[in-house]
Amino acid sequence: MVDSYKPRKGDKSTSSSQSETSALRRWGIRAIILALIVGLYQWANTINDRFYRLTPEELNETVQHSLRLASELNKNGDSGTNSTIIISTLIDQLVERHPEMSWSTDFKNKRDWVFNNAGGAMGSMYILHASITEYIIIFGSAVGTEGHSGRHTADDYFHILTGQQTAYEAGDLTREIYNPGDVHHMKRGVVKQYVAAPETWALEYARGWIPLMLPFGFADTLFSTLDLITLYHTVRITGKEMIKNLLIGKI
Ligand SMILES: *[C@@H]1O[C@H](CO)[C@@H](O)[C@H](O)[C@H]1NC(C)=O
Ligand SMILES: *[C@@H]1O[C@H](CO)[C@@H](O)[C@H](O)[C@H]1NC(C)=O
Repeated sequence: MVDSYKPRKGDKSTSSSQSETSALRRWGIRAIILALIVGLYQWANTINDRFYRLTPEELNETVQHSLRLASELNKNGDSGTNSTIIISTLIDQLVERHPEMSWSTDFKNKRDWVFNNAGGAMGSMYILHASITEYIIIFGSAVGTEGHSGRHTADDYFHILTGQQTAYEAGDLTREIYNPGDVHHMKRGVVKQYVAAPETWALEYARGWIPLMLPFGFADTLFSTLDLITLYHTVRITGKEMIKNLLIGKI
């Protein structure tokens, strides 16, 4: 009987092998789409450098120069660090060196500052420039913070202006320490736990595909703080900056 066995229409084993074939086809199509996305992403990462206007080397030099200038300016007044003088000196230097870029400079206007909750850390930021491939912001916290750095799709340069930042990667038993004038370079794909001491303010420069970084920046708002007003202002300010830059041809 076994030898003369022929599958009949509607036979259980036939329909399951048919559904296996179609499942295989579905997964094949998904794999091809995924490969296309990965390929597109890799290709996109080879062309974004033609849109950059700033270089990490020059920015480091600008920060060093501004810190020196600010400490000279500060000598007339009280001793110690004055974040306001440092930030305004730095912004003046950036505008002077890159008049071709569009800058937001009114950092004393509280309306243009927003809180940012990401990776369990909380800080506030002022956007100096944001386009599709570069952003440059003042970021920090008056009370200090601690959290997950995020696994970025962009290279991130953190120039410490005041205070101190410490960080380490899983597996390290000692911490990296960054003081004013130091640059903490967060490489693409690297993850760290970090701490910012009270009154740590930094100039943060990121280059890469910035819109891909935004989900991390918004996740804590959507799933934890539910501070939709802050989200609204973040989207408003970032969107305004990116569109303004696109209109003047800066991608
Ligand atoms: C930044 O500039 C300072 C002073 O020129 C230099 O000592 C330091 O190594 C530079 N840092 C980076 C990350 O390039
Ligand atoms: C920093 O300097 C500004 C401008 O000179 C001044 O108004 C402010 O009071 C100073 N802040 C501190 C904390 O000393």
